[in-house]
Amino acid sequence: MLLEVRDLVARYGAVEALHGISLDVGEGEIVSLLGANGAGKSTTLKVISGVIPTAAGTVSFDGRALGGLNPEDVVALGVAHVPEGRRIFPGLTTLDNLRLGATARRASRAEIERDVDEVLTIFPKLRGLSGKLGWTLSGGEQQMLAIARGLMAKPRLLLLDEPSLGLAPLVVKDVMETIARIARDGTTVLLVEQNAHLALQIASRAYVLETGRVALSGDAATLLASEEMRAAYLGSAVRVAQA
Ligand SMILES: Nc1ncnc2c1ncn2[C@@H]1O[C@H](COP(=O)(O)OP(=O)(O)OP(=O)(O)O)[C@@H](O)[C@H]1O
Ligand SMILES: [Mg+2]
Repeated sequence: MLLEVRDLVARYGAVEALHGISLDVGEGEIVSLLGANGAGKSTTLKVISGVIPTAAGTVSFDGRALGGLNPEDVVALGVAHVPEGRRIFPGLTTLDNLRLGATARRASRAEIERDVDEVLTIFPKLRGLSGKLGWTLSGGEQQMLAIARGLMAKPRLLLLDEPSLGLAPLVVKDVMETIARIARDGTTVLLVEQNAHLALQIASRAYVLETGRVALSGDAATLLASEEMRAAYLGSAVRVAQA
């Protein structure tokens, strides 16, 4: 497995947010991490990317233990984290936002410009927005830019935290299709989503977190068909998707 998380515990001060979760992500897969508000999805990504430390348990990437590494080291090893809330730089242009995504790589200027161009072929709409400042982009455009910037790190594993949040249904579809394409092009994806129905359509497998524990897991098709999943997590999403 490219990513192996074992018995992971994470704390915010005295509060234990993850009580020992285990999950695997294989090379080339899209694996989704689902669950309600506060379940521990973002915390899981933050521990993997080194933003917060492991309190117990292990995270290993390509056979290498990530515990104790800082975020810069984790990025340099090939794990890019696109956090919740599209944190792009509002005062910088689209192009400069993208260039900053390559910071951890020590690539030459020419190499970075080549990679910007390559990333823009995956996000054609961003090409027309190259010179625009971040804050002037729409929500969907900012989300695309955040993902594109993550790709500028040339990751083997991309951690995406709720890329569909707050976007209109058509834009969400576009974002999901782009994520599927990124995976087809060879980047492994761990996708955090509250919209289980959407995520299960592009993921091969999924884990459902409930208050810091894995409550359900399995392949996406099985989860989509499962009564337990339907009752607890898919009900409203299915109605919205069919509306
Ligand atoms: N900085 C923090 N300090 C203290 N507690 C926190 C902090 N961040 C998260 N928590 C707590 O940890 C738990 C897990 O939070 P987390 O953000 O991982 O949930 P989530 O599944 O990403 O939720 P959401 O869908 O709302 O983004 C929650 O109980 C939350 O209140
Ligand atoms: Mg979250």
